[in-house]
Amino acid sequence: MMTQTSSSASAPPALPVRNAGAPPVFQVRQVSKIFSSRTGQVEALRDVSFDFADGSFTCIVGPSGCGKSTLLRILGGLETATYGEITVNLPKSRVPQSAFVFQEHGVFPWFDVLDNVTFGQRMAGVGKVEREDVARRWIAEVGLTGFEHAYPHQLSGGMRQRIAIARAFATGSPSLLMDEPLGALDAQTRMLMQEQLVRLWEAERKTVVLVTHSIEEALLLGDQIIVMSARPGRIKEVIDVPFGRPRDVSIEGTERFAQMRQSIWESLRDEVQASMRYS
Ligand SMILES: Nc1ncnc2c1ncn2[C@@H]1O[C@H](COP(=O)(O)OP(=O)(O)O)[C@@H](O)[C@H]1O
Ligand SMILES: [Mg+2]
Repeated sequence: MMTQTSSSASAPPALPVRNAGAPPVFQVRQVSKIFSSRTGQVEALRDVSFDFADGSFTCIVGPSGCGKSTLLRILGGLETATYGEITVNLPKSRVPQSAFVFQEHGVFPWFDVLDNVTFGQRMAGVGKVEREDVARRWIAEVGLTGFEHAYPHQLSGGMRQRIAIARAFATGSPSLLMDEPLGALDAQTRMLMQEQLVRLWEAERKTVVLVTHSIEEALLLGDQIIVMSARPGRIKEVIDVPFGRPRDVSIEGTERFAQMRQSIWESLRDEVQASMRYS
C-alpha cells in the first residue's frame, strides 16, 4: 500500500470541510493514465486513489513530469483516465463544475481585465449586468479596481495572474483546479498572492486542488498535501497540515513549520532524484 496518512495529535486544524456529510467532490479510484503516441507509450499515472472532500484545499507536490497536471486535467474532465474511475459529485448548473487557473497564458490578451474576468460567466450565459457586478467584486478582491479597462500587456505578471484568479472565482464554479498558479511570480508578489488566496478561499470554501513546486506554499495553503512519486505518478504520502485557520504567513516562522517542511522534503527528495535518473 503506497498511501499513508499521517496526522498530528496536537492543534487540530479547523474543520476543513464545508459540509461534513457530503460525499467527496472528486472520488478517484485506481486511476492510471497512459499516453500513446507514434513514438511509444508514457505511463503518466499509476493506480491513484483519493477522495477530495467538499470544501477542502488539497495541494499536490511531486517531481516534474510525475503526472500532476495530468491528474488535474482528469479531475476537470479535460482528459480521461485510461484505467480506473472518477466520480464527480458537483451540482450540474449553467456554470462549469470546475474552473481552471494555469501557470501562464491564463488570460486572453485581446480582452481587457473586465472582459477577462467576466469570461466564464459570459460563456455560461449570465446577463451583462449581473456578470459585471460579480466581476467587479472579484476585481476588487484581488486589488485590480481601477484597471478594469487595462489590457494584460499593460500589466505586470502578478497582475495578470490576479486576473486569472479573479476569473476563476467569478465563474462561480464550486471547484477550482490550479496548476502552479503562482509559479511564474517573483518571491514577494508570490507571498502576497498566497495570502490573498488563503483569504479568498477561507471566505468561499470552494473545493480546491492546487499543484505547486513549493513545499512552503503547500503548507501555507493546504488542508492536506499529496506527495507524488516519480513517474509513473503514484500517491506516495498524504500529509495532514496541522495549522489551523484562519491562517497567515506567520506560521512560516514556527518550528512546526520547519519540521513539516523538512519531512516533506525528505519524502520528495528521493522522488526528485529518481525522476532525474529517468530523464
Ligand atoms: N498529451 C500528452 N501526450 C503525451 N504525453 C503526455 C501528454 N501530457 C503529458 N504527457 C507526459 O506525461 C507525463 C506527465 O506529465 P504532466 O502531467 O504534465 O507532469 P507534471 O505536471 O507532474 O510535470 C510526462 O512524461 C509528459 O511528458
Ligand atoms: Mg505540470
